[in-house]
Amino acid sequence: MPVKKAVIPAAGLGTRFLPVTKSVPKELLPILDRPMLQYVVEEAAEGGIEEVIIVTAPGKEGIASYFQPSPALERRLTENGEKGLLDKVLHASRIARVSFVIQEEALGLGHAVLTAREAVGDEPFVVILPDDIVHHTPGVVAQMTAIFDRTQAGVVAVEPMPWETVHNYGVVDAVPVSHPDLAASHPALVEERGLHQIRGLVEKPPREEAPSNLSIVGRYILPPEVFDCLERTPPGAKGEIQLTDAMLMLLESAKLYAYEFQGIRYDGGQPLGLLRASLEYALRRDDTRAAVREMLRGIHIE
Ligand code: UTP
Repeated sequence: MPVKKAVIPAAGLGTRFLPVTKSVPKELLPILDRPMLQYVVEEAAEGGIEEVIIVTAPGKEGIASYFQPSPALERRLTENGEKGLLDKVLHASRIARVSFVIQEEALGLGHAVLTAREAVGDEPFVVILPDDIVHHTPGVVAQMTAIFDRTQAGVVAVEPMPWETVHNYGVVDAVPVSHPDLAASHPALVEERGLHQIRGLVEKPPREEAPSNLSIVGRYILPPEVFDCLERTPPGAKGEIQLTDAMLMLLESAKLYAYEFQGIRYDGGQPLGLLRASLEYALRRDDTRAAVREMLRGIHIE
């Protein structure tokens, strides 16, 4: 069964971006001129996803508005002959079929995913965190659905991080599928670069206890059985229901793979990560590259 639905949790408090996130949803903060959320919805659509379910929260109504038509603005742009701008505005509401569910209280990423249970139904789905932005074509969702098509098992995106930073991340205990112990049971997968079979998951381990430096990044393809695990997951750190705890439970009855994705990742969950993403995306874009280079050359601050 192919992956056709994506869940994008966007109901968090965004505390690392306070005070702006007092009134502006973090997920709508822009990389240059488009919200982070748009980049991940585009990545989902490119990866073959037909329906995107965004989890939002009371007070974050701007998220739904962004993906809905805006008749007054569209009329004005049409009257003024602003075809380029009109196309950009219309594009946002046409990228994919988008629906919304509300997480009444920010009780954790796992809880946000569980909120989407009814909308997902009984099929595999991909979870995309909108503050992990990855530059690559094809995008990470397309890379991961290609793997899922071959494994029909859960796939989690991972990235090797410097060992001295592993205590900040969720880390996998995993064996490369090309490893001699696994190769015999995975003949069709041994050639798959960067693919590992997960044996365990640890949240924020001290460096000396970390089973690897492969940290979990915000893309997960999960089977619907994860919802039963989430229902049974008690609140963990900070009273939140953690997705990694539910995945650990899932491992008892299902295979999960870790996949080292191709691409450059930006941490859009904190201000400097988003600033870096904006600069690098602007340096890549034909319409902004020259002006940004010029701007950077002109900055001399002691
Ligand atoms: P983050 O931990 O990056 O977001 O969660 P946050 O909690 O909003 O931010 P900080 O840590 O306080 O700065 C990753 C994604 O999961 C969503 C967030 O909106 C973000 O897109 N999330 C998190 C939820 O939807 N609900 C939650 O209860 C927690």
